[in-house]
Amino acid sequence: MADVGTLIRRGFGETSRRDKWWVQPLVVFTILSSFIAYTTWAGFQAKNYFYHEDGAHYLSPLYSPLLYGQEHEPRWVGAEVPSWWPGFLPFSPAFLILIGPAGVRLTCYYYRGAYYKAFWADPPACSVGEPRKGYLGENSLPLLLQNIHRYFFYIGALYILILGYDAYKAFFFAGEDGSNHFGMGIGSLVLTLNAVLLGGYTFGCHCSRHVFFGHLNCFGKSLIKKKCYDCVSLLNTHHMKWAWVSLVWVGFTDVYIRLCAAGIWNDWRIF
Ligand code: FES
Repeated sequence: MADVGTLIRRGFGETSRRDKWWVQPLVVFTILSSFIAYTTWAGFQAKNYFYHEDGAHYLSPLYSPLLYGQEHEPRWVGAEVPSWWPGFLPFSPAFLILIGPAGVRLTCYYYRGAYYKAFWADPPACSVGEPRKGYLGENSLPLLLQNIHRYFFYIGALYILILGYDAYKAFFFAGEDGSNHFGMGIGSLVLTLNAVLLGGYTFGCHCSRHVFFGHLNCFGKSLIKKKCYDCVSLLNTHHMKWAWVSLVWVGFTDVYIRLCAAGIWNDWRIF
């Protein structure tokens, strides 16, 4: 009989577990692969990311902030393509900004645990044998680079501000005389929910707990610091749920705006 603490070596997929341990990694693999395939396709489209019929102002989160774009679009720089972009390469405004949100998710502590299991079986699930003998952890390159996550948190927080502004703009519709009036379409709600869900995911980050006063030994008499810390801790408790719901919704938000812009769906104006 093995002593307590003796490492049990199992062959790949070998386990004494009797439950369906393979379901979770399979679901993770399916959803993440589908999301990566869709966002790659959508990023290469370079069209139908901005819906502006009937004065609406809906910008897909996969293209926000829109650094370069057409004249009628909410671009930050006054050109369709950056002058430094190599002419032989296709260009899409999404190429310049997807590194921010992609970096947050790729290095997220939760996602790491999920995709290490689902994509390279390291291990496939708890107590299931993996296809390698040595365990290197994240102490050497390239996985050592995952430590960059604490910096991606700040970038992610900046994106939330921008997406919040996009959601705010989605409640204003341009009239024929050029003035803006307050209104609400289904797209306004879709973009608002997108910002809320991404905010819940980003501010529930482990790094967020540190930033929002978790680095202190004592809150002293500050009720505000304690409340902030409690709030982000609550988000953090459900970080996995925020991660998945926000992922699916950001994809749906792009689909919604894309289909409206392509004239396939109509945006229903509530008022
Ligand atoms: S741990 Fe998931 S976003 Fe930071």
